[in-house]
Amino acid sequence: MLNSAEIHSELLARRKDYALSHALYCDDGVYAADLEQIWYREWLFAAPAASLPKAGAFMTMQVGAYPVVITRGNDGMIRAFHNVCRHRGQRLCAKETGSSPKLVCPYHQWTYDLDGKLQYARDMQEGFNPAEHGLKKVHCVDLGGMVFICLAQVPPPIAELAKTMPGFLAPSGLKDAKVAFSSTIVENGNWKLVIENNRECYHCGGSHPSLCRTFSDNPKIAAMNGPNEASGEILAHWTRCEAAGLPSRFTHDKAMQWRLARVPLLNNAESYTMDTKAAVAKRMGAMPFNDAGTLLFYHYPNTWNHFLGDHAITFRVLPISATETQVTTTWLVHKDAVEGVDYDLNRLTEVWMHTNDEDRLVVEENQKGILSPAYEPGPYSTFQEEGVIQFIDWYCNVMTERMAPKPALAA
Ligand code: FES
Repeated sequence: MLNSAEIHSELLARRKDYALSHALYCDDGVYAADLEQIWYREWLFAAPAASLPKAGAFMTMQVGAYPVVITRGNDGMIRAFHNVCRHRGQRLCAKETGSSPKLVCPYHQWTYDLDGKLQYARDMQEGFNPAEHGLKKVHCVDLGGMVFICLAQVPPPIAELAKTMPGFLAPSGLKDAKVAFSSTIVENGNWKLVIENNRECYHCGGSHPSLCRTFSDNPKIAAMNGPNEASGEILAHWTRCEAAGLPSRFTHDKAMQWRLARVPLLNNAESYTMDTKAAVAKRMGAMPFNDAGTLLFYHYPNTWNHFLGDHAITFRVLPISATETQVTTTWLVHKDAVEGVDYDLNRLTEVWMHTNDEDRLVVEENQKGILSPAYEPGPYSTFQEEGVIQFIDWYCNVMTERMAPKPALAA
């Protein structure tokens, strides 16, 4: 298990535009450092707000050592808390999702309001102050229908994304969306391999027959360098979509931690379906047409998303161990769309259910190869894997800076 100095050396030794070393994908010390330096410090995508449709709805998630519970209060606000009872530390909510007017600890029934206040604690002695024993807060924001949390005491700035996201997402109508289906799988691979695999379509032709009916694996389709720098096809798509009121142009964070851009699907496909037509008869929000392509949004370290004319799909990645990663996919449709009438659930979900399983297999085989002592990092294709290079550069830059030895304080 590597220590901090050794991890820093591994990061510095990485060859530019090459994959990471065995240790950076497999070592338990690196996994612990990833948690400390990235997962416990960055904003993380938790869920679409539609997962918490009414007051009393709650959901839980596990980020490394931290169990977290997220609630929608009676005032409609979404809040996040450490999912740890302030009495003797029982995990408060064990269920992944649910609905309850209060959060009641199963051990001795201390009872908390949805805003985290301790409301009731039986048989506590004089001098006990409930106001000092509310749930500990976790930072939480709802950016246009996408809920993010941050475990850090002082979270990194999110103002730029908060300014940009709601406008991009507004036409997709996440406020009027409902969850049609959610799937959680575990991939036996390091979380960075899961993100790397998502950031390129070099593998798509060989692995994703269903997705390739509608999503182009041409790297030029996603090669965007600015709001006016893209292929002719993309520029024409942006012009058409913007004329119809859909923000579409490539925009990104300075460090490329996040990116938004709308891209067309292949051959005027309308949605991610096997027959390329819309999966849901009722469109999302104010989407003016079905062939608006997909609005792509990623945010490191843990989400990529597709917002289409007829539905939206969110993806959340959470690390479980150095070689295990949880991936949760949620399909959103208009809240008034009726299953069996406006959409068929199998038709809505089958392309990405297949694609997720195909990606799981790719990631697991990738991890098995990297576990071999014979593994040696190979070069990325700068033509096909620009997105992977950009993610790995982001990871290495963040980790190198945060793992750098601190100068000794003068006596
Ligand atoms: Fe929660 Fe005792 S640990 S009520």
